[in-house]
Amino acid sequence: MISLRQPVDDRTVTVIGAGYVGLVTAAWLAETGRQVHVVEQDASRLALLRRHVAPIHEGGLQELLTSVMDSGKLTVTDSLAAGVQGAGIVFVAVGTPPLPDGGADLRQVRSALRELGRHLGPETVVAIKSTVPPGTTQSLVAVSRRDRPPGPVVTCPEFLREGSALHDCRNPARIVIGGDDDVACRRVAKLFEHLETRIIRTDATSAEMIKYGSNAFLALKISFVNEMARLCELIGGDVDVVADGLGADPRIGRSFLNAGLGFGGSCFPKDVAALDETAGSHGHSFWLLKAATEVNLQQRRRFVIRVQEALGSTLAGKKIALLGLAFKPGTDDMRQAPSIDIVRQLSDYGARVSAYDPVAGANAQRLMPDLTVCTDVYECVRGADAILIVTEWPQFQALDWERIAAVVRRRLVLDGRNLLDGAALEELGFAYLRVGRQASRKRTRLSRGRSPVAAPAVG
Ligand code: UGA
Repeated sequence: MISLRQPVDDRTVTVIGAGYVGLVTAAWLAETGRQVHVVEQDASRLALLRRHVAPIHEGGLQELLTSVMDSGKLTVTDSLAAGVQGAGIVFVAVGTPPLPDGGADLRQVRSALRELGRHLGPETVVAIKSTVPPGTTQSLVAVSRRDRPPGPVVTCPEFLREGSALHDCRNPARIVIGGDDDVACRRVAKLFEHLETRIIRTDATSAEMIKYGSNAFLALKISFVNEMARLCELIGGDVDVVADGLGADPRIGRSFLNAGLGFGGSCFPKDVAALDETAGSHGHSFWLLKAATEVNLQQRRRFVIRVQEALGSTLAGKKIALLGLAFKPGTDDMRQAPSIDIVRQLSDYGARVSAYDPVAGANAQRLMPDLTVCTDVYECVRGADAILIVTEWPQFQALDWERIAAVVRRRLVLDGRNLLDGAALEELGFAYLRVGRQASRKRTRLSRGRSPVAAPAVG
């Protein structure tokens, strides 16, 4: 049993929670030369980490973990008491999953702080990295001494994107540190001072606002362009060109103006809902957030209706092949993935759905046991009445579409991410529909024929 506290040193950093944010942050901190201890309670995640295996798919993470764990720069433990020994700074990176009302469930954060209170001395800074609604850190700090660490608590939100998280760690657009204790904020800032980036020092609530505001604003941009896409489908115009034109104005910017099936993942849907809930609990209706969410869900429903329209009748018995299941490329994360709603809706209409994803297949199968998940993309599309692009994996562009044309039942592609070269597909006899553009004239002419999108049936 550990009875005496070791002297603390800011070159020793502990990260509580080896989820996506915690693990990537920990690996990066170890890469920068810190001695890092990760505390993780989940037995299966811990077992993998003990074998130096990354429990999540994230570009470059496995290689980095191997290197920093082999060299002893990063260690893992399930004991918080042992894991925080000697640490000058402790990051809390536990989950804040959504509650049924949309609010964030803060139980893991509270319990981590309570336990830290039992094991830390006043000289250790606790930095909250978990995404917590505005006002949370301030109210957590205000609770009784018994329920929180004796030292300073600051907030240091993360802005990592899944799929490029390590790149984002190494090249952050900004670092935000919020808290009242100047010295504590400076100690946390020191971890990032070698980076060429702006460090924004503020109060804890502003830091939390920046985190939620960033995600919410990006979500608004996506829903805005998806509304424009709908208008293009109704009136004419090409939403991709429209987005380029809008984005050429530096006040608007081109990023996050890609029309498609909308936002998923563990962050945008949850954070938009939580900010809306926080606003509501203070008597304010944040209409823009409600609209962004509604547009986002509508986008998925609308896509399924388009499939139905393109097939000209009922979906019952039709074979629909989904390419892409993860909420975005570069990850096996299925949380709030548009594919889940799309599979459910298609299945409700009686379609036979098969799906393929380069890395998220196993996770998707666990979530949707009845779904036919294929490990071979050409098997997935065999006999299909329609192929749907649901995640913009670049490898779908490089598929042998001639081979696909020969094995599908109908040559019909609905591109939910505007990924593919429509003209090339049309050359192969495919009818090609993308988000935010009316069907091409060539296709409209075709669709007046008896069998608009039928390719020779294959046995
Ligand atoms: C997002 C933020 O981008 C990060 O800055 C933040 O740290 C993170 O949430 C978080 O809070 O942890 P992430 O969820 O990994 O990161 O994914 P994004 O790349 O932001 O994409 C979110 C969703 O929006 C994806 O489903 C993506 O397909 C969709 N999207 C994105 C669009 O539909 N259109 C676009 O133009 C851009």
